[in-house]
Amino acid sequence: RTSLRSVAESRGFDVGAAVDADLLRNDAGYWKLLRREFTTVTPENALKMGPLRPSPDTYDFGDADAVVNFGLEYDMTVRGHTLVWHNQTPEWFEEWAYTDDGIEGFLRDHIHTVAGRYRDKIDVWDVVNEAIADDGSMRETVWYDAMGEAYLDEAFGWADDVTDADLYYNDYGADGINEKSDAVYDLITGMLDRDVPIDGVGLQLHALHDEPDPGSVAENVYRFEDLGLDVQITEMDVAYPEGEVPEDHREQQAQYYRSIVEACLDTGCETLVTWGVRDGDSWVPGWFSGLTDDPLLFDGSTPKPAYHAIMDVL
Ligand code: XIL
Repeated sequence: RTSLRSVAESRGFDVGAAVDADLLRNDAGYWKLLRREFTTVTPENALKMGPLRPSPDTYDFGDADAVVNFGLEYDMTVRGHTLVWHNQTPEWFEEWAYTDDGIEGFLRDHIHTVAGRYRDKIDVWDVVNEAIADDGSMRETVWYDAMGEAYLDEAFGWADDVTDADLYYNDYGADGINEKSDAVYDLITGMLDRDVPIDGVGLQLHALHDEPDPGSVAENVYRFEDLGLDVQITEMDVAYPEGEVPEDHREQQAQYYRSIVEACLDTGCETLVTWGVRDGDSWVPGWFSGLTDDPLLFDGSTPKPAYHAIMDVL
């Protein structure tokens, strides 16, 4: 049979997955499926600050290199995720951050080192992840506390110093038009007014408790495109509250995946990344209880209806 990858490539569309470095090393079925079916990879955790920084003065690039080099070896593009985030900071970080007033210099060096290392390898960076709180206010993070809202401008500038990759702002819950995406829109409009080098917006699209309306997603994509930005769907998965859907909800899930790809094709958002490859590898069951546990495109190595729905619409 033909692969999703070949269909996507002929359509000029990118289909990606979040990739786990250990599975890549230890599970041949996993990496064979990846290279066959996807055109782009995102390291699921390896490029986050915690995994990368065992101590304030050292870096551990082993896992990140493994995922990035895998992508390059098989002619896939690579999304870098993520340079600045409030979660998955190093274990030593909290204590250090309270006592050290060098946070700004630390972040600058981190971005220069990490984005610089992958200068010719990573095509798109999520420079800042999840800076807006659910109510639309600025999220109180260690970066915000130390530098105020300017931390975003600085972070994008530092990334721009060392890479030609497209520089993205990425968030969840801002997929359709709502209070949070309005706040993201205002944040980014401000950055553009200040000539901050931002190229795109990543909509995570974790459809975990509800399915953002595809028409509203399309409208949201259009308004960011009207600012001159690209938009990508960066972390999609689809789960339902248990008991609220039939045991066999895979057709419903397939329809939803299809409608999002359609929204992408209509609006010109040309990349959709799912947050994992096989259902069994998904982060969802470990992080949420009471949700269905099959959010992705593959059941083992078997393509699900959602896979076929995407293939069909491409
Ligand atoms: C998740 C990973 O999938 C998990 O393995 C990890 O334990 C926690 O982070 N939004 C993001 C991703 O931007 O980085 C998160 O990934 C999921 C939510």
